[in-house]
Amino acid sequence: MKKLLITGGAGFIGANFVHYWMNKYQSDKIVVLDALTYAGNIANLDSIKDEDNFTFIHGDICDQALVEKLLVEHSIDTLVHFAAESHVDRSITGPDAFIETNIMGTYSLLKAAKKVWLDGDTVLEGHRFHHVSTDEVYGTLSPTDPAFTEDTAYAPNSPYSASKAASDHLVRAYHHTYGLNVTTSNCSNNYGPFHFPEKLIPLVITNILHDKSLPIYGDGQQIRDWLYVEDHAYGIDLVLQNGRIGENYNIGGNNEWANINIVKTISKLVEQEFVNNSELVARFPTAKAAIAQNTESLITYVKDRPGHDRRYAIDAAKTNNELDYTPKESFDTGIAKTVQWYLNNEIWWQSVMNGSYQNWITEQYE
Ligand code: NAD
Ligand code: DAU
Repeated sequence: MKKLLITGGAGFIGANFVHYWMNKYQSDKIVVLDALTYAGNIANLDSIKDEDNFTFIHGDICDQALVEKLLVEHSIDTLVHFAAESHVDRSITGPDAFIETNIMGTYSLLKAAKKVWLDGDTVLEGHRFHHVSTDEVYGTLSPTDPAFTEDTAYAPNSPYSASKAASDHLVRAYHHTYGLNVTTSNCSNNYGPFHFPEKLIPLVITNILHDKSLPIYGDGQQIRDWLYVEDHAYGIDLVLQNGRIGENYNIGGNNEWANINIVKTISKLVEQEFVNNSELVARFPTAKAAIAQNTESLITYVKDRPGHDRRYAIDAAKTNNELDYTPKESFDTGIAKTVQWYLNNEIWWQSVMNGSYQNWITEQYE
């Protein structure tokens, strides 16, 4: 039985990971530590919040004393670190929070883990610090470059990716210097339930439903490698079970798409939903383009993101071969599930967008 501390477990990927783990390993204990920033949403954990083996702690990963207390009081043996500032556009307009959480926060967690697991009278055998990182640390690719492997040199281009790269290096150093049992995974772009609607895929779905424009940065030919979020959780699971200590593992689905094509694909899927389900017309009367089946008319080319990386692509051969990893979801099934999820969970995205769940947080956790 594992006792896990999950940082950032109220965010998009962290919450999906918590659901995945609670469902698969029902006798494990999970403690979520989350600061509930604008991106964290306690509603993402609503269906499990009363389970006996689940505890939610509202707090900051930079609070080393709190993390040490949680590691000791809950006898944590496995820390899975998702907490981060994660949106590239925000890192361009306001890098400070990225330096604080992604670098200083990771450093604080490493110090706490070293103190509790390594520096006491006995070393905690079998402890694990798993760090969740991104393909963005490798920089950008031309259309013909081979995909990123774990040996690709780091070349981060945005304040976000630079802060993630710095945290990856600290994690590596804590293994090399102090013998902390670490693993790191570098994953490509995720999509699926609970994805905050400032990111491309949920933004496109919700904007169609609001009859708002679909902003395409620059020429829309930038390429991202998309993975269904549950397949990311599955990959981390395999790394935790069988990954070698001190190693990095790439996780990806071999699924490259130009932004403009993914936006057009989602537009068609939403249009089709309106054709298949007449209830949607009543529920989303402002979705004029979807009703008229002309959602592509909402596409608007806008100014490019400064320093915009042209292409990401993950070579996951090491993870596939060593850990027998294969994503379970195809893009067709994953994106169809995702569109359905947003259509079925309007209350979630409306409240995320207008911030109303914050009142609920205040009542429950302040
Ligand atoms: P997210 O922004 O949706 O969630 C981040 C979570 O961390 C939120 O719940 C937030 O409240 C919490 N948090 C932020 N600062 C905190 C702090 N100081 N203390 C405690 N909690 C804090 O992010 P996400 O998209 O779920 O990404 C999770 C992790 O996965 C990140 O480390 C990110 O770099 C990495 N990643 C993301 C993607 C992707 O496509 N989204 C792909 C690869 C890797
Ligand atoms: O590659 C992994 C990374 O993927 C993660 O590390 C990040 O945390 C995550 O946010 C994501 O970063 P991206 O910048 O790739 O994701 P985003 O959804 O912001 O943008 C995807 C692409 O779409 C990117 O090329 C920018 C473009 N875009 C985005 C938005 C929000 C647009 O063209 N228009 C938009 O409105």
